[in-house]
Amino acid sequence: MPAAGGFDKGTGKVYPGNLTPFVTVTCIVAAMGGLIFGYDIGISGGVTSMAPFLKKFFHSVYDKQQANKSTNQYCQYDSETLTLFTSSLYLAALLSSLVASTVTRKFGRKLSMLFGGVLFLAGGLINGFAKAVWMLILGRILLGFGIGFANQSVPLYLSEMAPYKFRGALNIGFQLSITVGILIANVLNYFFAKIKGGWGWRLSLGGAIVPALIITVGSLVLPDTPNSMIERGEHNEAKRKLKRVRGVDDVDEEFDDLVAASEASRLVEHPWRNLLKRKYRPHLTVAILIPFFQQLTGINVIMFYAPVLFNTIGFGSDASLMSAVITGIVNVGATIVSIRYVDKVGRRFLFLEGGIQMLICQIAVAAFIGAKFGVDGNPGDLPKWYAIVVVLFICIYVAGFAWSWGPLGWLVPSEIFPLEIRSAAQSINVSVNMFFTFVVAQIFLTMLCHFKFGLFLFFAFFVIVMSIFIYFFMPETKGIPIEEMGQVWKTHWYWSRFVGPDDFVSAGNLEMGRGKGNATLPVKDV
Ligand code: BGC
Repeated sequence: MPAAGGFDKGTGKVYPGNLTPFVTVTCIVAAMGGLIFGYDIGISGGVTSMAPFLKKFFHSVYDKQQANKSTNQYCQYDSETLTLFTSSLYLAALLSSLVASTVTRKFGRKLSMLFGGVLFLAGGLINGFAKAVWMLILGRILLGFGIGFANQSVPLYLSEMAPYKFRGALNIGFQLSITVGILIANVLNYFFAKIKGGWGWRLSLGGAIVPALIITVGSLVLPDTPNSMIERGEHNEAKRKLKRVRGVDDVDEEFDDLVAASEASRLVEHPWRNLLKRKYRPHLTVAILIPFFQQLTGINVIMFYAPVLFNTIGFGSDASLMSAVITGIVNVGATIVSIRYVDKVGRRFLFLEGGIQMLICQIAVAAFIGAKFGVDGNPGDLPKWYAIVVVLFICIYVAGFAWSWGPLGWLVPSEIFPLEIRSAAQSINVSVNMFFTFVVAQIFLTMLCHFKFGLFLFFAFFVIVMSIFIYFFMPETKGIPIEEMGQVWKTHWYWSRFVGPDDFVSAGNLEMGRGKGNATLPVKDV
């Protein structure tokens, strides 16, 4: 995910450099990193709703599905092994992103990317050829390990290779490629489900090997980043490489700044302990609450389980998969809207508007499902207009998320962490996100069985809480250079209790002096 990068507010410095073939290939590989993550998010729900897949691996779920349709629909997918198939990936990703940051720092970005690619390949193959549930789960775990490595190294690689002025755009572009990956998964599920003989799910799961191969080959042929070489003390080689990457000879200023940034980062001895300092209370709060709230919007209920959900509320298999394609398209479109407007209307506006939009839709969906299914989960015959209205509200909900909490959940944390705590704070951000992604994936189907339509009100409650949090505690960060970010807390009605007038003076100067955005600094000690 776009964890390592961020909007580069800039310091007025412009380093010379061109969009060289290196940079172009880098972008392709980076896009694959996002794509494969999105693909794994989107693929599992679709295959889970395919009858031949259920019949082969999850017989009890299949039986429930085939049973008399007048039984309780809310519980037809309630199976812990089934949810483990989806959720195991995120637990593995959480663990490996912690290891990956050390590999990335000590051995370079390329090695982490290679690990990521190879793990993806193995995971995709095992899943595609799966003969038993354990193979499915093992495959998902390997994919998860791959995601940990790729998400840690690819955005970092990208932000270090890309010319300064493209960094911000490329960072959000990574989120865009996640949504494109989800959409591709939805579309492929739709078509593969139609394959005669019922083995289409093998293609869906095995399809992950295509981007995996591109990442693997890319990591073998691409050069290591100059930043990474500097970090490992290979200064001469790093400078030579920087000239080739930028396509110009005049790289002295950028090179000196990279060396200085690397040294500054080396001086940060206790990133974890630093994070506990009083003046970092706002940062620590954001690093924990923003990813927590992002997942408690309930978005992944839709991303993971849309086809299952649509199936539950009475759609046929085909219509369910088609509806997932529609929500996937809305997700991509609204992310593009966010890219376009985030620096114009600001983060707070998008957060609050998106929150209200999601809230209204969650209440509406709960009401519609509740009205037809009641508490016993027995809908009787469902009219066509009913299905259309539910899908419509789900689409408006997805749009609300995709132009607010989706990209901002990654962007905002990455733009507020000062150097001294960056690596630790970013790693908390990623881990909290993965952890709650896992939790939602694991318990959603059980919750649907017990909370019934009230489940949507459960997430609606959190949307209210997070909107209140944004309103009172999240200052606007639009257009504020990273070195001036300290000011935002000093003048805030609440956070000024923790951040004194003398805080962030040196850290601010340090970053301003280096002329670096938050994207280029080496990740350390996480
Ligand atoms: C979230 C993912 C989610 C995706 C949907 C990302 O920002 O972190 O959990 O599946 O958006 O597009």
